[in-house]
Amino acid sequence: MGASRVFLGHVALFTAAIAAPLEERKEKPKSFLADLGNSTWVIGNGIWNVTQGRQYATKLWYKGKDRVGQAVGHYVSYNGAASDLNWTSAAIADSGNNWINVKFTAKEGDFHWLIHDDLAGAYQYFVNHALPTLGEFRTLWRLDNTSFPKGHTNVKDGVLPPLSDYVAATKVQDETWQKVDGTFLTKYDWSAFLREQIYYGVYGDEVGSWYINPGKDYYNGDQLKEELMIHRESLTGDAVQLNMIHGTHYQAISKDSFADGKTWGPWLWYLNDGSKDDAARRWKQEEKAWPYEWFEDVAYQSRGSVSGKFLLSDGRPASGAAAFLGDSNSNLSTLDQGKDYYYTAYADGNGQFSIDDVRAGTYGLYAWSNGGKIADVTTSFVQNGVVIRKGKATSLKTLTWAVTDKKKRIFQVGDFDRVTDGFALSGPTPFEHGRISKCPSNLTYTVGKSKTSDWYFGQSALGTWSIIFNLVSIPSSAAGAKLTASLAGFSGGSSADILLNGAKIGNITTNSVLLPSSQDTYRGATRAGEWRLLEFPVGKEVLKKGENTVDVKVTSSTQWRGWLWDSIVLEWV
Ligand SMILES: *[C@@H]1O[C@H](CO)[C@@H](O)[C@H](O)[C@H]1NC(C)=O
Ligand SMILES: *[C@@H]1O[C@H](CO)[C@@H](O)[C@H](O)[C@H]1NC(C)=O
Ligand SMILES: *[C@@H]1O[C@H](CO)[C@@H](O)[C@H](O)[C@H]1NC(C)=O
Ligand SMILES: *[C@@H]1O[C@H](CO)[C@@H](O)[C@H](O)[C@H]1NC(C)=O
Ligand SMILES: *[C@@H]1O[C@H](CO)[C@@H](O)[C@H](O)[C@H]1NC(C)=O
Ligand SMILES: *[C@@H]1O[C@H](CO)[C@@H](O)[C@H](O)[C@H]1NC(C)=O
Ligand SMILES: *[C@@H]1O[C@H](CO)[C@@H](O)[C@H](O)[C@H]1NC(C)=O
Repeated sequence: MGASRVFLGHVALFTAAIAAPLEERKEKPKSFLADLGNSTWVIGNGIWNVTQGRQYATKLWYKGKDRVGQAVGHYVSYNGAASDLNWTSAAIADSGNNWINVKFTAKEGDFHWLIHDDLAGAYQYFVNHALPTLGEFRTLWRLDNTSFPKGHTNVKDGVLPPLSDYVAATKVQDETWQKVDGTFLTKYDWSAFLREQIYYGVYGDEVGSWYINPGKDYYNGDQLKEELMIHRESLTGDAVQLNMIHGTHYQAISKDSFADGKTWGPWLWYLNDGSKDDAARRWKQEEKAWPYEWFEDVAYQSRGSVSGKFLLSDGRPASGAAAFLGDSNSNLSTLDQGKDYYYTAYADGNGQFSIDDVRAGTYGLYAWSNGGKIADVTTSFVQNGVVIRKGKATSLKTLTWAVTDKKKRIFQVGDFDRVTDGFALSGPTPFEHGRISKCPSNLTYTVGKSKTSDWYFGQSALGTWSIIFNLVSIPSSAAGAKLTASLAGFSGGSSADILLNGAKIGNITTNSVLLPSSQDTYRGATRAGEWRLLEFPVGKEVLKKGENTVDVKVTSSTQWRGWLWDSIVLEWV
C-alpha cells in the first residue's frame, strides 16, 4: 500500500507537469461581460456575477445565492442620494490571459471593474471626465440583510441594529432615533477615521463583502478625515457598505472641482466567507502590492518620494508631528483639500519624516503637533511648491517651523493635537451620539492643581467652565497676552462668550463667518471633527497679579450641538 501510494504520487506529479496547462484552461473560470440589451449587463467570473442595469447593479450571485435580494444593490452617486450615475454603455476596455477590465460609461466619467478569473471580487476605479463641483462622491453596495447582518470597521464591529428597532423608536434628528429605553440609534455610530481603515465591510456566517483601499491618496482630507463607513439603511433595512471616495459627513462646506482624468482607486472590493482574518490577510497583500504595478496609467505610475526633518525654531525636533502633503498655495484647511491626491505621515522622535509613492506633481507640505513631546506647539508648518518627480527622491533637509516662546506661556489646558484626547469622556470610542450631554454645565479647572481629565471633551450646556490661574507678576516686557482656543470640532447651535476676569475677550459664536458649523459634534463625534483655531488678543490691563480667571460662558445652547475641545492656551505676547 505504502509503495503504491508513492507510485500514485509520482503519477500525479507527472500528470500535473504535462497536462496541467490544458486542464487549467478547461477548469478555470473565465471573466466575462455579457450584454443582455436594454441597458442590462452581466459581469463576473465563475465565482460571482453581478447584473448591472442603467443605474443599479441589482443581483450579486455568490456562493449559491443572490446576495442583493430585496436591497438596492450597487451604484455610484454624488451629493448624497440626489444623483446616481446612469451607465450608457459597457465595454471590455482591456484584457489579459486571466482578467478583463470592464468599463461602464456615464456622462460624468467611467467606472471600471477589473475582474480576475480566480478572484472573489474585483478591483474598481473611477476616472473623472465631467463630474460637477461636489462634496460627496461615493460608490456603494446595499446588500441583502440576511446574508450580511454584521458590520466591521477598525473601531466598531457587531450586528447592525435591526430595522425593527428603528420602526419602534422616535426620530430625534438627521438619521438618529431614540429608543423607548432612552438610548439612541444612529448610523453615525458606524463612522470612523477614513485613513486608518484596513479592511471594512458587512458580513455574516456565509459571506463577507469588504472594501480594501490601499494607498488612499485619492481621498479628500487629512489624517483626521472621518466618514460614515457602513450602516443599516433606515428606510429599507439594507446592509450598506459605503465607499466614500469624496465625502463631507463631518465637515462644514467642503466642495471640489476635479480635472478631467482625476482617478479614484483602484481599490479592491473583496468577497469571502465572512472571515475577518481572511479579509485582514487580503489587506496585507493589497497594501504590499500598492501602488499596483498592473495599473497601466502613466500618471498613476509616475511616483517619487519626499523626506525631511521638522525642526522647531526653539531648537527641538518636531517629535511625532503630523505631516500632510496636499495642495500648494491653497487657502483651504488640510481637511478641506480634496481636488487632487493627498499623502499623510507622522514624523519620528527626531522630527524626521518620509513619504513614498507620491504621484509626481507640485505639493504643499503641512505639519502640526500630534501631541506628545510637542503638545505645547500651537503653530502649524506650511511649505508650498514641493516638487515630486517620477523615480526621484525629493529631500527637503531641515525645515524650520516657527513656534512661540515657551517661556511666555501662562497656562495650557490639554495637549495641542487637534483631538480631544486626554479630556474626560473623550473615549473610549470616537463616536457616540449624545455623549456630549454627559459633560457638565459648570466646572472649575485650577492651573497647577487640576488634571487634564478634569476638563471635558465637549461643551454644549448652559453654564460656565472656568480656568483659575495665578500670576506672580506682570512682565514689563509683555505688550499684552493672547488666548488661543483650539477646537477639535464645532456644530453651530450653541454659543459662548470668553471672559478674562469678567471682561469679554472672545467668543465662540454660531452663524459667524469665522466659524461655519460642521456636521461633527451633533453627529456624535467625540474625538475630532473639523478643527478650528481661534485667537483672541488680551489687553495687559485685564490681567492682574495673583488669581485670575478665564470663563467660557455658554450663552445659548442647542442639544448635542457645541464644540469639542482640543486645547486652551494663554501666553504673553
Ligand atoms: C427595458 O428596461 C426597462 C427599465 O428597466 C423596462 O421597463 C422595459 O420593459 C425593458 N424593455 C424590454 C424590451 O425589455
Ligand atoms: C451567475 O451565477 C448564477 C449562480 O451561480 C448562475 O446561475 C448564472 O448562470 C450566472 N450568470 C452568468 C451570466 O453566468
Ligand atoms: C439618471 O437618470 C435618472 C432618470 O432615470 C435621473 O433622475 C437622474 O438625475 C440621472 N442621474 C444623473 C446623475 O444625471
Ligand atoms: C431586512 O430587510 C427587510 C426588507 O427587505 C426588512 O423587512 C427587515 O426588517 C430587515 N431586517 C433587519 C434585521 O433589519
Ligand atoms: C480660495 O481661493 C479660491 C480661488 O482659488 C476662491 O474662489 C475662494 O473664494 C477662496 N476662499 C477663501 C475662503 O478665501
Ligand atoms: C451652573 O452655574 C450657574 C451659575 O452659578 C447656575 O445658575 C446653574 O444652576 C449651574 N448649573 C448646574 C447644572 O448646576
Ligand atoms: C467674536 O470674535 C471675533 C474674533 O475672533 C470677532 O471678530 C467678533 O466680532 C466677535 N463676535 C462677537 C459677537 O463678539
